[in-house]
Amino acid sequence: METLCPRGFSLVIEGLARFCAPDESLYRRPNGVYEPSLAPVFYNPEMVENRDVTMVTLKTFLVSWSKEFTFLDPMAATGVRGIRFILEVAKGSSKSVNVYMGDISPTAVELMKHNLKISNASSLSNVYVQISLMDANEYMYYLKRLGITLNYIDIDPFGAPLYYIHAALQSICNGGMLGITATDVAVLEGKYPNTLLRRYSVKGLKSLISKEVAVRSLLSFAMRSAAAYDKYIKPLLSYHIKHYVRVFVKVFTGATKASVYLNKCIGKMQHCLNCGFSYFEELNNAAKEAKCPLCGESMIVIGPLWICDLIDYEYVKKTLNIVSEMPWLSKSSINLLTMLSNTNTSVPTIRLTYIAKRLKLNVPPRDIVIECIRSYEYDATLSMYYHDGINTNAPADIIVQCVSKDHRF
Ligand SMILES: C[S@@+](CC[C@H](N)C(=O)[O-])C[C@H]1O[C@@H](n2cnc3c(N)ncnc32)[C@H](O)[C@@H]1O
Repeated sequence: METLCPRGFSLVIEGLARFCAPDESLYRRPNGVYEPSLAPVFYNPEMVENRDVTMVTLKTFLVSWSKEFTFLDPMAATGVRGIRFILEVAKGSSKSVNVYMGDISPTAVELMKHNLKISNASSLSNVYVQISLMDANEYMYYLKRLGITLNYIDIDPFGAPLYYIHAALQSICNGGMLGITATDVAVLEGKYPNTLLRRYSVKGLKSLISKEVAVRSLLSFAMRSAAAYDKYIKPLLSYHIKHYVRVFVKVFTGATKASVYLNKCIGKMQHCLNCGFSYFEELNNAAKEAKCPLCGESMIVIGPLWICDLIDYEYVKKTLNIVSEMPWLSKSSINLLTMLSNTNTSVPTIRLTYIAKRLKLNVPPRDIVIECIRSYEYDATLSMYYHDGINTNAPADIIVQCVSKDHRF
């Protein structure tokens, strides 16, 4: 089996794909941990949920297109994502499917070609594959210039994705989907406010719900960029997991709707660094010196952020309905989808640890607080980002009552 791969590479199985990836034992940090960026071609097994969720999302998405579907991964590295798409989504479909994969690294492109052959992904009658050695932006503009309708583009660079978002927004078809990964999470989370402002035009700093801010900052950038081309985005799934942010958005054309989405979904967040309470405000109505309704401290303003839902719940339900057809998906990926389907993302997360600390109480169990809030007929769900987090539309006084209630027993 090992001879299938060039020297320094070994055979890996992920999903239904069997392909060559760098031999992990050769590319370790001094502490012994595999470091994908040291390898001649990038492959990170830690990103399996990222690719799993891409597959199930695309399997759901493919159904909505009539005859032909075109997939582009312009930063494909080993080609694993495209190969999995062919074997797990395109295979057996009645649609004619075109798969374009590229990379700026000649070594990656050679490996991708090799992997395509050994995985038997190039011999399906309904699938056309093209592999190119090209810069990602150049590839997207090139395919657009050829008049090729791109239904899905995957943006998965090292670090910040913003350098590729404009080309992707311009070359994706009306109703098409972008999958965007960002690993510059420290920036998106507000740890480096100046870089956040320079890169994403978001003014902020590290907050108590920085993981959520990271997702909303990326979506905000995507929406504001789309609007420049009279386009708008609708998030299907957006989340922060491990060391990255991943968003899947549909992109539509329409100047009027782009303005509607800008006005409705781009806003600011008032955030209390003391107790973590937050709320969204429209861009034009953000109060300059708001006091926290929960603890009375001064609030900070972060924005512009995406303040609408992060999830299309109907869509996630559809993906969960088909996971049983894909038994090779990892348990963690299915757990992630389940979690996404159960979280209310129309309101910011609050964290019980900080609220309880402010009230000088022990941290109450989340379930009890949620039950209490629901008893007042407000919505409350577990946060997907923090073990002590919940998402609720309840006002501050109800939250205080429910956090305190547990301690009266
Ligand atoms: C994070 S890896 C992609 C991993 C891959 N999508 C996967 O799921 O395994 C980023 C890849 O982008 C390539 N790359 C970096 N800059 C690029 C550019 N400007 N144009 C095209 N590819 C680029 C790198 O060579 C690398 O293979």
